[in-house]
Amino acid sequence: MDKYVTGAVIRKLREKKKMTQEELAGKLFVSSKAVSKWETGQGFPDVSLIEPLAKALDISVIELLSGEDIRNINRSANMARGKFYVCPVCGNVIQTAGEAVVSCCGITLPPLESEECDPRHQIKVETVEDEYYVTVDHVMTKDHYISFLAAVSDQGVQFIKLYPEGPCEARFRIACVRKMYAYCNRHGLFKIAV
Ligand SMILES: [Fe+2]
Repeated sequence: MDKYVTGAVIRKLREKKKMTQEELAGKLFVSSKAVSKWETGQGFPDVSLIEPLAKALDISVIELLSGEDIRNINRSANMARGKFYVCPVCGNVIQTAGEAVVSCCGITLPPLESEECDPRHQIKVETVEDEYYVTVDHVMTKDHYISFLAAVSDQGVQFIKLYPEGPCEARFRIACVRKMYAYCNRHGLFKIAV
């Protein structure tokens, strides 16, 4: 089995908690020599220690496994400041109200970083009565297409999944929309404020 956590991660998290090797060892009922061995790569904590180790380091198990301390600093959990995650394996799309550790198909997904629209990815917005009619003049082939359009307000997300060979358009209720996003499967996430 591969190591589920590296010594460097254990040391980093332990030092962040301002704990000595002895203190961490005491919490796990192991010797400080064992902790020292883990941190220097000469040993490896038993799988049964995953949960106690995560608890002692004040981190979730998935954070421990991903080797990162990911905390949501978006305490008000405002959807407009949320993140999109796209699985490169199955195409799943996940939207969160803040930072999160998101995994799909066995991999941890990084949050998408949105860019301003470029000339090849222009989100066009027309107002039609109480709706925004949104289009992107972009190819819609199997290899290269706009995979979703989304309109985000503080309260929620209107999300339209698009498909190759299909139309690249969506209609969103105008109410409270602050930003719109278009995700190109090759070029990433583009945004405009409205
Ligand atoms: Fe593109």
